[in-house]
Amino acid sequence: MVFQQQLRIPGPTPLPERVVRAAARPMVDHRGPEFSALLTTVTSGVQRVFGTANPVLVLTCSGSGGLESAIANLVSPGDRVVAAGCGNFGDRFGTIAAAFGADVVRLEAEWGEPVEPDDLARVLEAHPAARVVLLTHNETSTGVLNPLAGLVRVSREADRVVVVDCVSSASCVEVEVDRLGIDVAITASQKGFMAPPGIAFVCVGERAWELAEHSRSPRFYFDWRQARRQAEQGSTPWTPAMAVLYAVEEGLRMLDEEGLERVWARHRRLARAVQAGLEALGLPLFAAAGHRSPTVTSALPAPGLDVGTYRRLLRERYGVVIGGGQGRMTGRLLRVGHMGAVADGDVVQVLWAMEQALEELNVAPADGRALRAAAPHLTPEAAAAAV
Ligand SMILES: Cc1ncc(COP(=O)(O)O)c(C=O)c1O
Repeated sequence: MVFQQQLRIPGPTPLPERVVRAAARPMVDHRGPEFSALLTTVTSGVQRVFGTANPVLVLTCSGSGGLESAIANLVSPGDRVVAAGCGNFGDRFGTIAAAFGADVVRLEAEWGEPVEPDDLARVLEAHPAARVVLLTHNETSTGVLNPLAGLVRVSREADRVVVVDCVSSASCVEVEVDRLGIDVAITASQKGFMAPPGIAFVCVGERAWELAEHSRSPRFYFDWRQARRQAEQGSTPWTPAMAVLYAVEEGLRMLDEEGLERVWARHRRLARAVQAGLEALGLPLFAAAGHRSPTVTSALPAPGLDVGTYRRLLRERYGVVIGGGQGRMTGRLLRVGHMGAVADGDVVQVLWAMEQALEELNVAPADGRALRAAAPHLTPEAAAAAV
């Protein structure tokens, strides 16, 4: 009997009990003072997460809507844009730009590898007319954390406007918007903020505002100028997903209580535990060493292991839900999310279940190897309980 699912996909992430309760609060007037106070609390929390003084726009949509808003506000039809990606989400960002009539130059690293700053510098040099560069911080489909500082540096040196998809990194991994000089950073409620899906946050710097003023792309719902004007009055242009904002407010409170640096350290440590556990299970890690994501670990299936069968068994027998591959890696990859509300005990449960299920499928014996390998990265209490 499975009583509660262990949601270990890379978003939406599990909701802490207090976040669920916050989301269930009664509605207020979205043009009234309570909402205005909520908006201020949430946007200043997101500014802290992003390390920025730039305004944060609150859009009611998922992360993809936030990405689309950047294209709709910055890119005019016919503009050349560089899209540097290394997986499904980077690909999609370029595809959104193409849908808005941009002339998209794609720099695509091999899946499992990061985008290299030197390669980006070469592409930028070859395309001086491309004003906008699209980057993905954490490529969720492959479990790769791109070298953001280097990518932003070469983009700024080439005087480009840098737009970064931080959907699956923000709050779990440091993103220093002002120090690095990121012009636009985008994230969403359902990942590191431990809230349900429904809100995208878009943090827009001065150079991007300038571009948005002059771009000729049609836009209405996602018009940043409208969102900024309304934010200055303490509201949003359209009815916002208020329950999600209540949840984000509580998620931010939890992040503040733990302390952002501790949150980032927890993600790095638990990622190492999951990586060690999966390797011990004979599931080869997919992302290149040195570039593995703190929020999602990707691994290839062991020989003879059917990804669909394995995921189904984990879900039905153990209540553990992990991700599969996306795009060209559909059916060929396992992805374990450790993003947002994740503790040592969660990692113990996931690795234990993954090991038991491999034995059930006659792939490898369950002799405790995953938890033994993970133990050095767990707290002493969790390690002692696990092995
Ligand atoms: C890196 C990245 N970008 C974009 C998205 C798309 O976000 P959404 O599904 O909220 O539209 C995701 C979702 O997983 C993501 O991980």
